[in-house]
Amino acid sequence: MDSRAIEDALRADVENARTGDDLEGVRLRYLGRKGSITAYLHGIKDAPADERPRIGAEANRLKTLCESLLAERAQALGGGDDNPHYQPPVDGTLPATPGAVGRRHIISQTFRRIRDILEGMGYRLARGPEVELEYYNFQALNFPDEHPSRDLQDTFYVSKEILLRTHTSPIQVRFMEANRPPLKIYAPGRVYRNEAIDASHQAEFHQVEGLYIDTDVSMADLRGDLLMFSRELFGASTNIRFKPHFFPFTEPSVDVDVTCFSCNGSGCALCGQSGWIEIMGAGMVHPNVLRAVGCDPEKYSGFAFGVGVDRIAMVRHGIPDIRLFLENDLRFLEQFQEPTS
Ligand code: PHE
Repeated sequence: MDSRAIEDALRADVENARTGDDLEGVRLRYLGRKGSITAYLHGIKDAPADERPRIGAEANRLKTLCESLLAERAQALGGGDDNPHYQPPVDGTLPATPGAVGRRHIISQTFRRIRDILEGMGYRLARGPEVELEYYNFQALNFPDEHPSRDLQDTFYVSKEILLRTHTSPIQVRFMEANRPPLKIYAPGRVYRNEAIDASHQAEFHQVEGLYIDTDVSMADLRGDLLMFSRELFGASTNIRFKPHFFPFTEPSVDVDVTCFSCNGSGCALCGQSGWIEIMGAGMVHPNVLRAVGCDPEKYSGFAFGVGVDRIAMVRHGIPDIRLFLENDLRFLEQFQEPTS
């Protein structure tokens, strides 16, 4: 085929193309490996020597022409719906599509609720490190040397004297070392235990510590504050009960139950038919703990409590598995919308 005939056919084919696919077909038919412009150029090797420069130049002209005709036609077809490269014009007057809006993690929401309640009751914020000294986590808290909580099994040790705190109670000691009574603090944070992981145990969970030290603090004060706290958190009809327990750093020590707010105390699946749900440990600060921070137990007394934040979130929202908190599955997290008030 001579170059004139190729050009005529090319112009007709481009003119007839209706879609981006059609244009791609044309491109292949002319410039592809077996395309007619390519074949024309290959003819150069059979041509007489004096013809070759003209054939080369013609092949180049056809190639450039083909590309510009295709580009022109693509532009002309630009508005067609069946063109895969079609982009609708941007209408700047339309309202913007809303972006993805984040929210606080359910554990953070729970922390903030607890914070709001305790700050309203006069507790102020204290903090401490997650990587803690054995001294603050155990020794100053009156843990006997052979206490099982000190076993490697329960505690993640960094070295002999350094560990990941197993509770927020070491913040009691740190704060009392640096401040004199009267003092009333709450201390939120993440804690670590070498647990066998299941639906109610995780190696990483969250607590809020409470501590009040003054002259003449009694267990009645503890009960009053915990009742107020529980009613704010779970509703005005909530009650609490103390069950005798043991902690090395409090004496007497108790576990604290609140009325099951699902059945209001009559017994249901959530509370295991008992009508009560356990949410924290508490007690009167042990004289040895006061002594460890140079505080005279004859003059001062106080109480402490430790709230399980994950557990509170679980019972408040009916969450069946503690592992959900750290899985970061948006389908779970998006279910918890903080009230905007
Ligand atoms: N630190 C205890 C725990 O983690 C809870 C607690 C805190 C108990 C304060 C009494 C007083 O189990």
